[in-house]
Amino acid sequence: MDTQALKESWHLVARSGDQVPLFFYSALFLMYPETRALFPVSMANQRDRLVNALGHIVSNVDRVDDLVPFLQQLGRDHRKFAVVAQHYPAVGQALLATLQHFLGDRWTPALARDWTAAYGLVAKVMNEAAEESAATTPPWWEGEIILHELRAPGIAVIRARLNYAYAFRAGQSASIATPLRPRMWRFYSFANAPRRDNTIDLHVRVVDGGVVSTALAHGAQRGDILRIGAPVGDRLTLDANPPRDLLLIGGGTGLAPLKALVEQVAYEGQRRNVHLFVGARTSRELYDIEALSKIDIENPWLRVVPVVSNDAFYSGEHGHVGDVALKAWHGQDVFVCGSEEMVHSTVARLLDAGVPPEQIRFDEFTSAGGRAQ
Ligand SMILES: Cc1cc2nc3c(=O)[nH]c(=O)nc-3n(C[C@H](O)[C@H](O)[C@H](O)COP(=O)(O)OP(=O)(O)OC[C@H]3O[C@@H](n4cnc5c(N)ncnc54)[C@H](O)[C@@H]3O)c2cc1C
Ligand code: HEM
Repeated sequence: MDTQALKESWHLVARSGDQVPLFFYSALFLMYPETRALFPVSMANQRDRLVNALGHIVSNVDRVDDLVPFLQQLGRDHRKFAVVAQHYPAVGQALLATLQHFLGDRWTPALARDWTAAYGLVAKVMNEAAEESAATTPPWWEGEIILHELRAPGIAVIRARLNYAYAFRAGQSASIATPLRPRMWRFYSFANAPRRDNTIDLHVRVVDGGVVSTALAHGAQRGDILRIGAPVGDRLTLDANPPRDLLLIGGGTGLAPLKALVEQVAYEGQRRNVHLFVGARTSRELYDIEALSKIDIENPWLRVVPVVSNDAFYSGEHGHVGDVALKAWHGQDVFVCGSEEMVHSTVARLLDAGVPPEQIRFDEFTSAGGRAQ
């Protein structure tokens, strides 16, 4: 298989921008109308979530061995869209029709053969993982909201109780849909380690003009039933051995998975020291500080430090959360989570200061779902 040709051809097609998903979906829905019901009602003005990922992932088939765990998660997670085995050839055909359309003369039999083989390989890994998980887990879980608190302007803390046992690891996320915006799935991180009562906590920050975050923070209420996909992500999960000390740096709701790690360490018993830095623009946005202070007081191995960047009246630590946290680094493993901008600027500071890259773990809250690791 000529994987270089796959990448180059995808690069060429992707240059046509929004025309690509437009053509892909027209082809898919025309050839296989039954697939329309899997997608959100309104696909207008919505950043494409599938086609770019599809082209990117399939054209990187030379990395398929590295990508297997990610593809397995993606396949299991696709069950929440009600995707079944028969849909894979449909999407494959629409993808090929799209490539052929945009490549014109450059679409050759050799290229067609390679794209077909590459798609088949990726689809096989996803579909097999999905079918395997169907024996033990539902396609999605339902979580009844039992607590909904607007803690700060545009920031809500939500607790939901799931209907089936849900095995996840502290630091993971799942994609979630609210009945207020059917079939619009977005990723949110669990703000807790797994609990016996099968509840999960979410920290949701409203993004300007954001469809799902606004619905979750301002529309959702107790009694609503959320849909929750399979747990995903391993960027922020803890290695059990050896139990190294941790420096955790969260910006905004990037606190959520880090709080889950703190809970995890608490469940494991006092095996490591944890220093948690919580960044916010203003003191009002320190939406979880009361709960964190309580955990801090109860646990001698934990230190929580709030850091505020733009609030002249705040009496605590001021500045970029990464700069303040760096002063406390003395060899611990570092975990960073927050907006794309916060994560990039923090990681750059850590590297500049000499923190070894292999000791830095990070994840950013982007609008792109399902990224290859
Ligand atoms: C692995 C992962 C975990 C996440 N965990 C959390 C979490 O715990 N808490 C949380 O509040 N959010 C989290 N997010 C972000 C979340 O998935 C959504 O992107 C966010 O809530 C916006 O969705 P929306 O439907 O409201 O916005 P959309 O309607 O999808 O987008 C509206 C506009 O905002 C832009 N936009 C979308 N998302 C973001 C963003 N995150 N930052 C800046 N601009 C954006 C879009 O490009 C668009 O212009 C996570 C994202 C990922 C990938
Ligand atoms: C090789 C095969 C495939 C790959 C690599 C792939 C990849 C992806 C990725 C990365 C996303 C975004 C993640 C997310 O939002 O959760 C996505 C979304 C989606 N995929 Fe797939 N996918 C594949 C096959 C399919 C098939 C066969 C279907 C069935 C028709 C499907 C239906 C969807 C739907 C409905 C969405 C959500 C779209 C939206 O919200 O706008 N996918 N896919």
